[in-house]
Amino acid sequence: MNRQKPSVETVSALNPEFRNHPQRVMDELRSTHPILLDESSKIVILTRAADIAKVINDRDIYCDPRKSDPDSGLRRVHRVDESYRPNLLRMDDPDHKRVRDLVSKAFNQVSIDALRPKIEQITSDLLDSLRGRYSFDLMEDFAEPFPTAVIAEVLCVHRDKREDFQRWSKALSQIFNPKPTPEQLERLQWGSENFQGYLKQIFDERREHRGTDLVSELITAHEGEHKLLEWEIISTCELLLFAGNVTTTDLIGNGMLALLKHPEQMEKLRANPALIPGAVEEMLRYDSPVSHVGRVASDSTRIEGCPMHSGQAIYALLGAANHDPALHQDPHTFDIERENKRHYSFGGAAHFCLGAPLARAEAQIAFSMLLKRFPDISLTPGPDPVRKIAPSFNGLESLWLTVA
Ligand code: HEM
Repeated sequence: MNRQKPSVETVSALNPEFRNHPQRVMDELRSTHPILLDESSKIVILTRAADIAKVINDRDIYCDPRKSDPDSGLRRVHRVDESYRPNLLRMDDPDHKRVRDLVSKAFNQVSIDALRPKIEQITSDLLDSLRGRYSFDLMEDFAEPFPTAVIAEVLCVHRDKREDFQRWSKALSQIFNPKPTPEQLERLQWGSENFQGYLKQIFDERREHRGTDLVSELITAHEGEHKLLEWEIISTCELLLFAGNVTTTDLIGNGMLALLKHPEQMEKLRANPALIPGAVEEMLRYDSPVSHVGRVASDSTRIEGCPMHSGQAIYALLGAANHDPALHQDPHTFDIERENKRHYSFGGAAHFCLGAPLARAEAQIAFSMLLKRFPDISLTPGPDPVRKIAPSFNGLESLWLTVA
């Protein structure tokens, strides 16, 4: 590890060492500075599973960056200014509970189970488009368009807007980058403005002609006893897009890479597809698509060995918790039959990933159909797959496969 005092930059995708060897960096941090206060960003970084579990399961801790110290780096990451309005991910109670209860009515296991045939169809169409190719980039040709097509289905995006939708979604992946380049910032604004404008159009249409889609259900909720404001519906839909797409894309890329680097696990999975759900959990644990979650301490927050005050910003490194030897035996071994499947890749408690059932369904279907369609998959010879620079997320830029 770079010998300078570790900081939030050390555990950011902007640091090539962390990007390429996250577990090496987090292991060292966990053993030398398990609770680290970065003086310049005023953020405490946690790497032990026990501390991370405590923070993400503590319902009295805040998510809203406006509650952090005035000079905290968390405010910069979220570009907090007077016009800042938190989306569901950053809301605290009572707003969080109100919005989450309404959204989860429309977005639950039953609605995801009903989506499965559609997800299978989307997977099959994408795999058909690869017919005749013996080499392709899994990320660009499958893992990126796949979840966007699924969420487009959930939001009933018009067919002629699907390619735009894909581009906006990609631009939004820089949303948590604390130091975007001017070009990335411009793309981010462009993606957000276009997407919000389009959602507004869908919103107006659905207000006139209600359907059974998510937006219609959210509008109905808006008119019911409990209110969802128009901007809350739009920001929730935007959240579903950027929280759900990049992460699922990365799960598929990271999971495929793990299988290719552990051919005996790939063979086991091919021989017994019933192992797929467990394999997806191990993929999530082994190479978490979300690198950290941010929190803000309240008066009652206590972490042993670390003085806390209300307003102290905290980063909980999810991948570090997943690989803590105190939680898992041989944490760096990729074992799809691991008995203890515990991981923190979907967060926990009040903010536990609302899209977890959808992400699981998508990954299970994708791996099942990819392995069936291609009886032989290998890494295309050449340089190692490149990790992308998207702070807060952890995934691949490209993953070239050779198939038979
Ligand atoms: C492998 C895929 C995914 C991973 C690893 C993932 C990870 C996470 C994590 C770690 C959180 C908690 C953040 C925090 O506590 O601050 C979260 C929240 C959330 N996720 Fe996911 N996610 C995935 C897929 C999805 C999908 C497919 C959707 C929806 C389409 C989605 C929607 C959400 C929403 C709405 C929240 C906010 C919940 C709340 O704050 O109450 N996610 N996700």
